[in-house]
Amino acid sequence: ALHRRPIVAGNWKLNPSTRGEAITLLKLLAANFINHRNDNNNYGLASSTLPEVVIFPPLPYLSDAIQILAGSGIQVGAQTAGPNEKGAYTGEIAPSMLVSSGVSHILLGHSERRTLFGETNEYINMVLRKCLDIPSVKVILCIGESLSEYENGLLETVIDEQLRGCLANVDAKYLLSDRIILAYEPVWAIGTGLTATPSQAQYAHEVIRASLAKYYGSEEVASAVRIQYGGSVTPESMEALMSERDVDGALVGGASLNADSFTRIFDVA
Ligand code: G3P
Repeated sequence: ALHRRPIVAGNWKLNPSTRGEAITLLKLLAANFINHRNDNNNYGLASSTLPEVVIFPPLPYLSDAIQILAGSGIQVGAQTAGPNEKGAYTGEIAPSMLVSSGVSHILLGHSERRTLFGETNEYINMVLRKCLDIPSVKVILCIGESLSEYENGLLETVIDEQLRGCLANVDAKYLLSDRIILAYEPVWAIGTGLTATPSQAQYAHEVIRASLAKYYGSEEVASAVRIQYGGSVTPESMEALMSERDVDGALVGGASLNADSFTRIFDVA
């Protein structure tokens, strides 16, 4: 990662099973990040060099997360949101309600939302544009290819298609102002223990930047946007990933459910 601020996100998915476990994990993470900040301070490192750290808990634990993480420096995100703001939409999740509850980031287009819950690029684009209407909230937009697409040499095609679909009618200013952060998650690395190698991740991030440069006609946009890598990130693989020029952070699943592992990941971001 060059001049871009590192960002580490913990996507808890549908875990842990009980509120008690969630509260325990939140308290540990808050304490660990405060220690991390103090260590940085003791070394005279500016707070701007601290990684941006965001936790995405299941919605039922959202208020606990906001309350327990308040003041720790760790921010809270929502794993998904719908395109409706209010009214007769039973079961929906309004982006503005999330933000008014203290959510700072919204994850969109995760591959599990796409494959298990039928979210398309067009739907994701609709929700993304709704989220961008809310001042200050940041969207982490997930893209990535499946194993068969990868094996058939379709990585570049798929990334270009997902970006053009999800970013349709989205002004470049949102990427230039860090309102949109990208997460590249090769589907074949999610939950499989198969992490992309640093050079595989670097190549995919280069492809993403090239695709953005072409789409927006601007190298500046391509260079400004932060891109996280996601897919079986562990404390062991994090440092090498972060040493790649175009990797600006990690979107962590399984390892984010263990306070020690997630701490060791943001300690090296
Ligand atoms: O969003 C992060 C997730 O897809 C990666 O999961 O368990 O492979 O780190 P995991």
